Order: sequence, then C-alpha cells, then structure tokens
Amino acid sequence: MVKHLRNPPVISLTPSSLRFLDQTRLPAEEIVVETADYRRVLEAIRALRVRGAPLIGIAAAYGVTLAARELFATTSSDPHAQLRVVCDQFAATRPTAVNLFWALERMRGIIDRTADAAGLVSALETEARILHEDDARRCAAIGRHGMEVLPGSGGVITHCNTGALATGGDGTAFSVLRAAHRAGKNIHVFADETRPLLQGARLTMWELKRAGIPSTLITDSTAAMLMRQGRVQAAITGADRIAANGDSANKIGTYGLAVAARHHGIPFYIAAPLSTVDMDIASGGDIPIEERAAEEITDWGGRRIAPEGVPCYTPAFDVTPAELITGIVTERGICAPPFDETLRALFP
Ligand code: MRU
Repeated sequence: MVKHLRNPPVISLTPSSLRFLDQTRLPAEEIVVETADYRRVLEAIRALRVRGAPLIGIAAAYGVTLAARELFATTSSDPHAQLRVVCDQFAATRPTAVNLFWALERMRGIIDRTADAAGLVSALETEARILHEDDARRCAAIGRHGMEVLPGSGGVITHCNTGALATGGDGTAFSVLRAAHRAGKNIHVFADETRPLLQGARLTMWELKRAGIPSTLITDSTAAMLMRQGRVQAAITGADRIAANGDSANKIGTYGLAVAARHHGIPFYIAAPLSTVDMDIASGGDIPIEERAAEEITDWGGRRIAPEGVPCYTPAFDVTPAELITGIVTERGICAPPFDETLRALFP
C-alpha cells in the first residue's frame, strides 16, 4: 500500500506493518510505502528507496521483525532457521555499509538466544526499536561534538545525503551542520549534487531547505573551483564503513573531494557513529565496494544518454585514505590521527 501523508515518517514500525518514505520519489513526491511483507523491504534497500548506512541497518532490523511476525502467524516449521535465512537475504542486499551487518548481528543474537517462539517476535521487535532509538541518540551526540570543528562563519561543503533520510535521527554530517546552524554559527552549506543518483540534489537540498540552513547546490565538479575561490572553510561527509586505520568508504566522489580539500588546505572531516567503524578490517583496501547497474550512468530520466554497448564502471563508493582526513566525529567525541590508536581507544 502507498500513502501520501502530511508529515511522512522516514521509517516507523506499526503493530501490523512497516512504513517508510520512498526516497527515490523525493523531492517531487512524499510517498510512504506501508507493507507487512519483508520482501518489499529487501527490494526497497536494493533499489535505494531506503538508503544511508545507519538507516539500512535499521530497515533490515525492522524487515527481520516483519518476517518473524509472518512466520509465527502461519505454522511454519523451524522458524528460527527460516529467520536466519531472512537475515542472510538482508545481508546480501548491499555490501559496503557495515551498519547493515552490525544490525543483523544483533538480530541474529536475539534469534540464537530466544528459544521460545512466541517470545521471539516481541524480542526482535524490541531489538529493532532499540537500534533505531539508539541511532537517534548517536546522531544527536555527533552533532554536539562535531559543531566545534566548524568555523563560526564560512562555507562548508558536503557530499551525498547524511541527514534524517540516512539515519535513525538527525543524521551524521548533517547533524553537525544542523547543530552548528542552531548554535548560531553563520555557515553556508555547499551540497554536491552527488552523481549519479543525485542524493545531494534531491535529498540533502530537501533537508537543508526544511531545516532553514543557508545552502547552495553545486555539481560535483564545481567543488575544487569553489575551494580555489576561497569560499569553502571546511568539508564534512558521512561514511559507510571506516576501517581500523581510519580509511573511510563513502559515496563515490568523496575521495576526490578530500584530495581537493587537502590541495587547498581545507580541513576534511568524516562524521559517523561507531556502528560504522569496522575494527575487523585493517585498511580501506579490504572494504567491499558495491558496483551498481550500468543504467545508473548510461541513462538519465528514463532516457538513454550513452551509446549502446559502451563499457561502464560504476562503483557506488570510494575510499578516502586516512591521511586526507583531519578528524573523525563520533558519538563519543572527535578522533584525531593516528586513527588506528584514537579509534581503538573508543572501543571497550
Ligand atoms: O548509496 P547510498 O545513498 O546509501 O549512500 C549513502 C552515503 O554514501 C552516505 O554518505 C553514508 O551512508 C553516510 S551518512 C549516513
């Protein structure tokens, strides 16, 4: 079922369904999908109707909850085994954002520990809600810590979408922008359009406008020139996976932005919750990078723009090496280089 609502929730679980905003339709249409079928959540994550590292994890946790409701409403054999298969299906949707695997690990833990079939549905639902609320608290803390690094006045550039549409709360990098603006800092945000799916133009500009933060949309290729003109005093983005040494995977184009920032002597920050840090991966070279369908760059607005049959290379993310990152803003404070030491110190 699809609904038009006045104040659409980004994602919310009801007693009978999951509601989520279809982000592929923004900003033209604010359409909420309402479904009790976890298969639609799988499709929504793959198709980027629901996207952004922390939000993918939250959506998967709610999706597993829907599957549990469905399995226990019918008399299925070995529901625990079937739910583990559902977790594997969610894990196969998108490879880069580690928050997905982190959230699914928590859901698998509940499945392993809860033998009682009736108790399992409510235990999974509770865990999914905890993940969601916990992420909102992390976002708020990231905003509080991160606003300190932004200038009292000046231009701040960002890439992709890192706001409420990407998380369970106010966002990661976006939460920092919002907190700085609320605290009275006179910042002007430059949002990269973020080729090819335009999360910056469609989603970040939508959120900046709603938040009343002064902002300008630019093409990705305008960033370096803007820096040379002296109009950018800081850069801040989110991340989809941060390796133990601080190398950070984020939307394709982030690496180029960081290179340009270094060339112009502009500080470059990453903002992310610790659920985005993968201490099992030593450096960025081991982060799996999702490749998307060729049509995402050969077609535009439903129309073919590249010649038929051209070879395409379509990584959805790139890795910014730690040496280009000035600081990593987390919910527990700001890490400075060397990140292998400062990140490790934040983990118990
Ligand atoms: O492909 P997407 O839209 O899911 O990519 C999202 C990003 O790259 C964000 O910058 C990232 O998830 C970090 S912010 C929450």
